[in-house]
Amino acid sequence: MSPADGQQRDGFPPDFLWGTATAAYQVEGAPAEDGKGRSIWDTFSHQPGRITHGDTGDVACDDYHRFADDIALASRLNAGGYRFSISWPRIQPDGRGSANPAGLAHYSRLVDTLLEHGITPMVTLYHWDLPQALQDKGGWATRDTADLFAEYAGIVAGALGDRVRKWITINEPWVIANMGYRWGEHAPGIRDAEQATATTHHLLLAHGRATAAVRAAAPAGTGRAGAAGPGGAAATEVGITLNMTHVYPADPAKPADRELAADVDAEINGVFLGPLVEGAYPARLGAEYVPGPQIARDGDFGIIQAPIDFLGVNYYAPHIVGVREDGIYRRGDTPMGRGYAVFTHPDGIPVTAMDWLVHPEGLYELLVRLRNDAPDLPLYITENGAAYDDYVNTDGTIEDTERIDYLRGHLRAAHRALTAGADLRGYFAWSLMDNFEWSHGYSKRFGLVFVDYGTQRRIPKRSAEWFADVAGNNSIPAD
Ligand code: FCB
Repeated sequence: MSPADGQQRDGFPPDFLWGTATAAYQVEGAPAEDGKGRSIWDTFSHQPGRITHGDTGDVACDDYHRFADDIALASRLNAGGYRFSISWPRIQPDGRGSANPAGLAHYSRLVDTLLEHGITPMVTLYHWDLPQALQDKGGWATRDTADLFAEYAGIVAGALGDRVRKWITINEPWVIANMGYRWGEHAPGIRDAEQATATTHHLLLAHGRATAAVRAAAPAGTGRAGAAGPGGAAATEVGITLNMTHVYPADPAKPADRELAADVDAEINGVFLGPLVEGAYPARLGAEYVPGPQIARDGDFGIIQAPIDFLGVNYYAPHIVGVREDGIYRRGDTPMGRGYAVFTHPDGIPVTAMDWLVHPEGLYELLVRLRNDAPDLPLYITENGAAYDDYVNTDGTIEDTERIDYLRGHLRAAHRALTAGADLRGYFAWSLMDNFEWSHGYSKRFGLVFVDYGTQRRIPKRSAEWFADVAGNNSIPAD
């Protein structure tokens, strides 16, 4: 109950971490400043036909120069946490060798600025901007990249680990492997099933090796979540962020739909959860997704299973899948390219500007499922949010009521999952501000804060006020 207005509210646990999130290539700009090397996204975004409207991240939100103002903005949203990523080629322009001091200095200032505002930094070491020099040698399809990633992780943890306690090794390995190497829709734009499967495995290996490297390099001491570091300081926590979903059969009464849902679940969720939690790829994963013995070598699962302190979950939408055995597709079906299997968009379920389903129940199902499938692992929602076609009214306001509905629905689902026993420790809204949305360029706006790209003016949307109220009161309005 909030005494101010008498409105009923549902509270979150006392230490619940509310935050906003960004990623380096999506916000920074400054692609060649202070000795930064080229990344695969610098290359890819400049290739004709790759990105909507030919957009690139060359300027983006100019956050490389404006980070202090952007952090002040995040602080006004009552965000106690800020998740950002480090651009590997700013630290090692060619992906190997000694560190670029100017790159480290930038992120060191960023971390100090967060701490001055009382904001907990959550650092993602890899959010997709691989040094181009490493892609020239095969990128993630090459095993060496996993070793080099661990070296890079050690350098960063050595430089920032006295102040940063929360580390995410890799963001969304499924997207990297499949969008980047299987379907070519993201950098590096490769369409090769074998490379994609090798990438899946090497990303897992890179995660395991980097986890060990961060623990070894971070001066704050190690240990599983909750363990204190030297002098009672919070211990270093390391995790990985997976894009996870809940997969529903279109018709639960049809065995073919149920089988398909289980297959898709293995391809998106199980392919990473299995190795991380069980030390094996799921038995039902299709052969084309399982790396052969040349790639998955003896001892690898021991590395991949380096103990982690939390699992980061990015959740946006569920999948609803079915088999159209009659060969007749319905409105809203997207064929999967295997028989008559489709992703469906049933009537009555809203969609965002990305055409992603809005179905908060999927988040509840996922969080409750992780109670069993990732037991003992604290969870953070490291991304959740929605793109809508926002516009500025003549009075200067942005009334993004759909985004508020989206956030409210998903936070209510998260709250219900907490009540049902999910070990959820925090929630990071994607995103602090509108930014470069990968292959969609600037055409999709996910921010709580609107960015006028012509002037770089930031305008908090109505959802930013709503979020600030929720984060500031550690509670959501009851239904
Ligand atoms: C996720 C990415 C993030 C952002 C959102 C919308 O897949 O991790 O960078 O683009 O989607």
